[in-house]
Amino acid sequence: MGELEREWASEVAQKIMKKERAVARRNVGRIPYTAGADHRFNDQVGGGIGWWTNGFWGGMEWQLWNACHEDVFRENAIFTEEQMDAVFMDYNAMDHDSGFRWLPTAVANFRLFGGRKSRNRGLLAAANLAGRFNGNGNFIRAWNDWGDGRDTTGWAIIDCMMNLPLLYWASKELGDPRFRRIAMAHADTAAKSFIREDGSVRHIVEFNPETGEYLREHGGQGMGEGSSWTRGQSWALYGFTLSFHHAREKRYLDVACKVADAFVKSVPKSGLIPVDFDQPDEVKWQDGTAAAIAACGLLTLADELEGMAAEKQGGEERIPSYRQTAIKLLRALDEKNCDYDPEHDELLTKCSAAYHDGKHDFPIIYGDYYFIEAIWKLTGQELFLW
Ligand code: GLY
Repeated sequence: MGELEREWASEVAQKIMKKERAVARRNVGRIPYTAGADHRFNDQVGGGIGWWTNGFWGGMEWQLWNACHEDVFRENAIFTEEQMDAVFMDYNAMDHDSGFRWLPTAVANFRLFGGRKSRNRGLLAAANLAGRFNGNGNFIRAWNDWGDGRDTTGWAIIDCMMNLPLLYWASKELGDPRFRRIAMAHADTAAKSFIREDGSVRHIVEFNPETGEYLREHGGQGMGEGSSWTRGQSWALYGFTLSFHHAREKRYLDVACKVADAFVKSVPKSGLIPVDFDQPDEVKWQDGTAAAIAACGLLTLADELEGMAAEKQGGEERIPSYRQTAIKLLRALDEKNCDYDPEHDELLTKCSAAYHDGKHDFPIIYGDYYFIEAIWKLTGQELFLW
């Protein structure tokens, strides 16, 4: 990174800290998902506690705490961790998103301070995630029944690659290879069944739960079957990078590079990421979350490749392109998609949950989380949560 980029990243980090101090104080006792037109976060405590995104606020508070060690951030993170205990008692809410929920909260707390209760939460979440493994098809089942008549028993989704680090952590923590084995079996299935020839990625794949046979893909949160939902591409990019980070199997690095190459090629001139890379030109919806997650993935992948190059195992030719693309994405977010006003709760303003939703270009908490993680990677303030 050049001097100018270093200065820019440090200025962005200062703007984030200034804003997020006010946001943290205003949101004590809450767990946000989105903000409304009044620029105030909503609150998931109570009825919304089972929602899959609830770990991101805690993770964001730990990242901010890591940069300044101010109590309010630590207290907000611990509040989230404790509130989420209710989820363990709700079978249906215990879906595959245990990594997203307990790595940035309980496991982060345990890695920092070693508490017995936090370790217990992380291990309970990991054991539940491992219990979702379907040995017939070697995949982790994504969701439980939604009660709308759809049978999701054989469904796996690319997002799950980001939950696997919880299993890698549990294996290490317990000295028990089972969790790691399940993570790797799922990653191998995802490499085979989700990644297309051109490096683009399917969102949902349905397997026969009895035989493990590949049945079909579903468009899921993207535009449709065969399209490239951008957040799914980002989950794959970062997720395979993390599987390489933990399992040290070069095949995961190769998949991460294949997906990253396709992503880099698809980034528009503006650096602003659409909801789906295949959406028609006249559809202008953006997804800032996809950009921020991809930036985290590209920066981490570049670091992993640098490690390989140092060991003379190759990969060095991609490093500058991945870092430059990550910075392009982050600069575009900083200039066009960030609200640094300390009176407003949200940081990223234009995110999308799913292509076919009625609502687009609104704040989503994991956009804020991954933007901060990516900027922290550039300024050296990151707490590695995955
Ligand atoms: N994991 C669900 C999503 O990315 O929307």
